Amino acid sequence: MQTVHQLDPLRRAVEALRVDGPLALVPTMGALHDGHLTLVREARRVARHVAVSIFVNPRQFGAGEDLDAYPRQLARDVDMLAGEGVSLVWAPTVKVMYPDGYATNVSVSGVSEGLDGAARPGHFDGVATVVVKLFNQVRPDVAFFGEKDWQQLAVIRRMARDLDLVRPHVDTIYGIATVREADGLAMSSRNAYLTPEERAKAAALPQAMREAIDALAAGEDAAPTLAELRHKLLAGGFASVDYADLRDPDTLAPVAKLESAGARLLVAARIGKARLIDNMPVPGRVQGSVSI
Ligand code: PAF
Repeated sequence: MQTVHQLDPLRRAVEALRVDGPLALVPTMGALHDGHLTLVREARRVARHVAVSIFVNPRQFGAGEDLDAYPRQLARDVDMLAGEGVSLVWAPTVKVMYPDGYATNVSVSGVSEGLDGAARPGHFDGVATVVVKLFNQVRPDVAFFGEKDWQQLAVIRRMARDLDLVRPHVDTIYGIATVREADGLAMSSRNAYLTPEERAKAAALPQAMREAIDALAAGEDAAPTLAELRHKLLAGGFASVDYADLRDPDTLAPVAKLESAGARLLVAARIGKARLIDNMPVPGRVQGSVSI
C-alpha cells in the first residue's frame, strides 16, 4: 500500500494500478471507523484495486462549524487501511487540493437545497467541488459512499449524471448501507465529540426514528408522527432538531402523505458538541382496499 500526498506521484500510482483492472475510490475525511472499512470491503469485491482518499475538506465546513476540531489521525487511518487490502491512500494537503488562486465551485441545484443544504449553507457546494476534483485526480471506475449521508449521495449521483462522470449505462456510484453500533447509533467520526453521558442519550435518535416508522406503518399521519419524533429527541437529551422530514428517496422532494412508493425519513439533531444525522427507509402504504 502506497500513501501519496502530491499530484505527480498520485498520477504515476494510478496509472500503474489501472493496468491491472478496475479501480475503486472510497472518498473519506479520515478518522476512519468500521463504516469506512465496510465501504473499503465492498469496493474490494467490485474492483481489482481500491484507493482511499483522506482529506478534511475545508470548503464543506461553514463558519463556526467543526473544521478545526474535526479529528485528524492520518497515521492511525493508514494503519487501519494497511490490513484491508487497499492499494493506494491519497492524502493531499489543503494547498495541493486548493492551490493559491483556486476559483472554481461546483454547485448542484435541487437535491442540494433543503435539509442539510438549508442548515449548512454552502456545504454541498464544498462536497460537490471536492468530489469532482477527487474523481478527476484518481479517475476511478467506481466510487463508494455511505448511505448515512443520504442527501450527499443524492447530490453526488445527480452531479455524476449531469457532468457525465458516470459511464453510460453503468451505475458507478455505489451507496452502502449505514453501519450501526450495537444500540443502533449510526457510526460517524463525529460521535467522538460525545461525552459518555451524551453517547448513551444519542441512541434515542435511531430509536425514535424506528418508532416513527412503526407509527407511519400503522397508519398514523406524517405531521403528528414527525412532531412526536422531535418531542422524543428533545425530551431524550438532544438540544435541538434541525429537521425531521419525510422525503422522496431520489429527488428529496417533501412527502406529505405516504404513498405506495414509500419515502426516506431524514433527521439532523444536536447533542453536546455533535450534530448527528441519520436516515431510514419508510415502507410505502397500499392505497385503497384490498379485495380477496
Ligand atoms: O462523506 C465524507 O466523508 C465527505 O463529505 C467526502 C465525500 C469525503 C467529501 O469530502
